[in-house]
Amino acid sequence: MAAALRGRGRGGGALLVTLLGPRRGYNPLFKASELEVQRSSSPRPKPDPRALPFGRVFTDHMLSVEWSRAGGWGRPRLHPFQDLRLHPAASALHYAVQLFEGMKAFRGADDKIRLFRPELNMERMERSAQRVCLPPFDRGELLECIRALVRLEQEWVPRSDCASLYIRPSFIGTEPTLGVAPPGQALLFVILCPVGPYFPGGHFSPVGLLADPSHTRAWPGGAGHCKLGGNYGPTIALQRAAQARGCQQVLWLHGPQRLLTEVGTMNLFVFWHREDGELELVTPPLDGLILPGVTRQSLLELAREWGEFEVREGPLPMGTVLGALAQGRLREMFGSGTACVVCPVGGILYGDQWYPIPTMEHGPELAQRFLRVLSDIQYGRVPSEWAQPL
Ligand SMILES: Cc1ncc(COP(=O)(O)O)c(C=O)c1O
Repeated sequence: MAAALRGRGRGGGALLVTLLGPRRGYNPLFKASELEVQRSSSPRPKPDPRALPFGRVFTDHMLSVEWSRAGGWGRPRLHPFQDLRLHPAASALHYAVQLFEGMKAFRGADDKIRLFRPELNMERMERSAQRVCLPPFDRGELLECIRALVRLEQEWVPRSDCASLYIRPSFIGTEPTLGVAPPGQALLFVILCPVGPYFPGGHFSPVGLLADPSHTRAWPGGAGHCKLGGNYGPTIALQRAAQARGCQQVLWLHGPQRLLTEVGTMNLFVFWHREDGELELVTPPLDGLILPGVTRQSLLELAREWGEFEVREGPLPMGTVLGALAQGRLREMFGSGTACVVCPVGGILYGDQWYPIPTMEHGPELAQRFLRVLSDIQYGRVPSEWAQPL
């Protein structure tokens, strides 16, 4: 009964405990109240956030929790940042039994640190874990552990309204056997990096996209809707090809209709006049081909709340988009994601033709408004339940 009560409103792990009951000697869930803290004896100086390359500078501590099929979860630990020690047969290394998340902590002018809708990242993390048979965990307890880590590292959260602390939860299979099977051992860890502005100087710079229909990022029935490392490694070669052709990002297409699905590692939005003249914001649907972005969901909710134009989750075939462009109906195209909030698109290289997209010519009014409204929430300038103080 106690287990059942503990499980209410929590993750799948708690539900499992409720249904099956705890196994003897097996710890089905880890708890933030059991955190062990080992402080670093040599904290490092904090870097200038304005000159920070993404993902290269890490803070002094990390969170680790180990799991095994025999014993369940160990105690969560905050400890000095350190290399991992892995068996060379670990399933994360061979079969990408692995997942990650990306979220941020922001310091406001009031000096308070806030997390942006972190429960959505925890839900996505749980779905990714299910897809690769990593064991269940309690989302609320993991979030409490992450809060404790950010609190411990609070001096690393930049004092700047255009910088933040990037939070990278990861979960890997560490089973030291070569069979392709659910892992019997796993490690959940969280590392942190201070990050600078995505657009230095605050100036939006539009990206050019390579749209090459001979490549696809995800497919029906695949795992493109989960944040698994295996979805990202194979994209690097095409990203390099895009850069070699003067583009900054890849526009991921899918199927005979050449559906526009995502931009690099961002969700995609198009703001246009429909054929009947109505203004409409469209983004591809959650049909398994795209990652359900926290920013995507937030932009959709904001736009629906404003109620100023139509908002639709629907397919975007290349022919339809190029038709709207040719008829002068396309106003803005932009990507959305935690890294940048929104990123304007300036053109698409498709076949051998360059199609300029007039996003910047239109302000971009909507992209800029989204950036302003979301940043105001994230930095606590406008109160919102989306921004949760630590
Ligand atoms: C493939 C992909 N699409 C979209 C996104 C945007 O998601 P979010 O808004 O949660 O950062 C990301 C980044 O996490 C991504 O990796």
